[in-house]
Formats: sequence, C-alpha cells, structure tokens
Amino acid sequence: MKTLGIDIGGSALKGALVETTGGTLVEERFRIDTPDKLTPPEMAGAVKAMAAHFKWQGPIGVGFPGVIEDSTIWTSANLDKKFIGCDGAKLFGKATGCPVTMINDAAAAGVAEMHFGAGEGFMGKTLLLTLGTGVGSCFAYQGVVTPMELGHFPWGKNGKSAEKFIAASVLEEKELSWKEWGGRLQEYVAILEKLLWPELIIIGGGVSADHAKFFKFIKPRAKLVPAEFFNNAGIVGAALWSAHKR
Ligand code: BGC
Repeated sequence: MKTLGIDIGGSALKGALVETTGGTLVEERFRIDTPDKLTPPEMAGAVKAMAAHFKWQGPIGVGFPGVIEDSTIWTSANLDKKFIGCDGAKLFGKATGCPVTMINDAAAAGVAEMHFGAGEGFMGKTLLLTLGTGVGSCFAYQGVVTPMELGHFPWGKNGKSAEKFIAASVLEEKELSWKEWGGRLQEYVAILEKLLWPELIIIGGGVSADHAKFFKFIKPRAKLVPAEFFNNAGIVGAALWSAHKR
C-alpha cells in the first residue's frame, strides 16, 4: 500500500511515496526549501505542491515539528506561531483534497526506526533524538512510541530550551567544532540517561549521517546508534502512521 509521507522541518519540506508494508521509498524523495518561515496558508500551498509533484491523490501522513494531539498543532517552536491551534489535517486536507494524518516529526522518526530501522524488533527502552533545526525526541518501550518534548528541557543558567544549545543548527550557526558540540551532547545525554535509563539511543536528523564525527564524544551507558533511515525517518514514519490510523 502506498502513502505520501511528508516531513515538515525548519528549513524545508521533504516528501516521498512510501510502500508502507516494508517502509521503503517508492521513488526518490522531493524537497521544497522554505528559507523564510511560512504561514499556515503558505505551508498548505507547499504541501499541495508536494502532492502535485508526485501526482498524488490518496492518504498523506504529515510529520510536524510541534506537539500534536489528534490533528491539532499545539506548539511551533521553530515555525510560524500561527500554527498553534491549527487543525493540520483540515489545513492540509483542504489544500490537497486528500485525507491527512498528523504526527509529531520525531515520533514519526521513532515509528519508522522501531518498525523497520535501528530499533526493529527491540522491545526494551529506546530513546530517539532527532538533531536538526530543533531537537526532537520520543521514547519507545515494547516497540510502542511515545512522543516527547525533551528538546525543551531547561538548559543553561537562564533555563532556555536545551535545543538552543545542542541542535544541529547550533553546530553550524556557532561554528562549533565536532568536539565542542559533541561535548554538549554528552552532557545532555547524561542527564536524559539519569531520568529515562534507555537501553538503546538512536540519533536521527540530517547530521546522523556524520555520526562517526561526534559519537566518539558521547559516552552513554546505552547502546548508541545512528538512525537507519537517516534523514528519511520522518517521511517514512509519517506514512506508516497514516497507514496505521486508517
Ligand atoms: C519541537 C518538537 C520537534 C523538534 C524537532 C522542537 O522544537 O518542539 O515538537 O519534534 O523541535 O523538530
């Protein structure tokens, strides 16, 4: 069964048709850059353009970087604040004429990794972190994924969100070395380990392709692995979630 998976991020929308029985991309993914923050109607236009690119009329799963309850968006830390309170399924459904299912972007990545990726078959406690514009997180136990907002753990002397110090975007913006950034991650992961005691930690987001450059600076008790879907986890998971909800 095919579903269009779309991963809305801080700087781009990525989408692909996904074969949901195996979690594989049917054809190459498509990317629409969003250098400026899009308003909800503009984002709906971009989602429509994504569906048009794939000439798609069918179910769509959308991963969004914020708290999602059913299909309502409750936070938007790195996108336009006007998304707060929006019903994503209605917004994107109206624009595309397709049935839309919403899920948090990191929870989507978790669904993909626990089904067909780095956590496949693992029943123990798993923490997944996605490092991108922000820091996404979810926890899985017995293979069941729970969305989390650990990127907003209070950090530094002013108690700002931890993602302001450890997101992959900070590595670029502050021109940190891998060692400096890896050191920050090490501190953050050590705190999360005290609270959650994961047995497996999966790191996703675009930067996970460079894991060899910074994994050596993080020394968790848990087994540390990169996401197997790398940056496609959000796309695949959003599509799987949509298939699961039907
Ligand atoms: C958002 C999360 C999201 C993460 C990664 C955070 O700022 O609050 O919901 O998963 O960024 O995109």
